[in-house]
Amino acid sequence: MLEQFEQIGSEALETLKKITDPKGLEEFRIKYLGRKGQVIQMLSRIGSFPKEQKPAAGQLANKIKKQVTEAFEQLKASLAESKQSETKNFIDVTLPGIKPDIGKTHVITQTINELLEIFGRMGFAVAYGPEVEDEWHNFIALNIGPEHPARDPLDNFYIEDSTLLRTQTSTIQIRIMEHNEPPIRVVAPGRVYRPDTVDATHMFMFHQLEALVVDAGVSMVDMKTTIDQFIHTFLGRDAKWRFRPSFFPFTEPSAEIDLLLTDKNGNENWVEMGGCGMVDPNVFDAVGIDSEKYTGWAFGFGVERLAMRKYGITDIRLLFENDLRFLQQF
Ligand code: DAH
Repeated sequence: MLEQFEQIGSEALETLKKITDPKGLEEFRIKYLGRKGQVIQMLSRIGSFPKEQKPAAGQLANKIKKQVTEAFEQLKASLAESKQSETKNFIDVTLPGIKPDIGKTHVITQTINELLEIFGRMGFAVAYGPEVEDEWHNFIALNIGPEHPARDPLDNFYIEDSTLLRTQTSTIQIRIMEHNEPPIRVVAPGRVYRPDTVDATHMFMFHQLEALVVDAGVSMVDMKTTIDQFIHTFLGRDAKWRFRPSFFPFTEPSAEIDLLLTDKNGNENWVEMGGCGMVDPNVFDAVGIDSEKYTGWAFGFGVERLAMRKYGITDIRLLFENDLRFLQQF
C-alpha cells in the first residue's frame, strides 16, 4: 500500500515536470490535487489501514501531499510570470501611433508669407524696418505735424523723448525712399504698436503690410488694379471690396479700403482693412525725391484682419493666446 503512495507521488512529480501551459496545469490539479484527485484520495484511504500502520501511512501521505502541492504552486507561479513577460514584450501594432510634437508656422507668419508670395509674383521686392523708431520716420517725414492728434504721447508707446515703438509700417516707406532712387516697388511687413484697449478686434500689437510704388507716371489706376488683383488672389474671386474717401497726412488723395464681410446670420458689413493713397509731395520733399518728376502710391493693410477674414476668425485675441488647439488648425 505504501509503495502505491510513493508511486502516485513520484508519478505526480514527473507529470508536473512536463507541463508547460495553464491548461495542462489545471488538468493536473484535477487529477491529483482536486477533491477526487489521487493525492487527496490517499489521505482518505488511511482510515482503512491496520491500526499500527496508520501513523506511518498518514505521515507519508502528508509528506507526498506537501511535496506535490509545493511543486504545483511553484510551476503555477513561474507560468504566470512568463505569461506576464510575454505581454510586456508584445507590441500591439493596431494601437494608434504617438504623434511627435512638431512645431509649425503661426497662422500670422503663414499669412505674411502668402502675402509676400503674391506681391513677389507682381514684381514687388520685400523690405523691413526697425520696430523702435524715431519721430522723423514715424511722423515728421510722413507729414504728420507736431499738432496732429496721432502724436499725443498717450496714443503711443514712447521709449525716450523722441523714440517710440512704431505705430505704422509707413515708417519703412521713408527708410526705403531715403536710400533708393525710383523706380521703387516694395512691400514691407512688420509689427506695429498702439496703446489700444484690447477687445475682439483690437490689440496693442498687430501686423501691417505696407506697399510703396514710386516711378514716373504712376497713377491711382495702378494702385486700384494692384489692390484688386491682390484681394482676389488672396481671398478668392467672390471677395468684394471698395474704396472709401479718407485722409492721411502722407497721401493725397487718400482712401480707406473696406472688405465686405458676411457674418453667420447672413448680415453684410463693410470692414476697414487698411488705408492707401497717392504719396503726398511733402513726403517726397522730406526724402529728397523730385515730386515734379515722380509720382507714387502706397497702402498699409492690417495682416490680422486679412487673416481673420480669410479663415473666419472672429476674435483677434485667439491669434496671440498660443493655444495649440487653435493654432494647429492652420
Ligand atoms: N499707416 C496707416 C495706418 O496705420 C495706413 C496707411 C494709409 C498706409 C495710407 C499707407 C497709406 O501707406 O498710403 O493707419
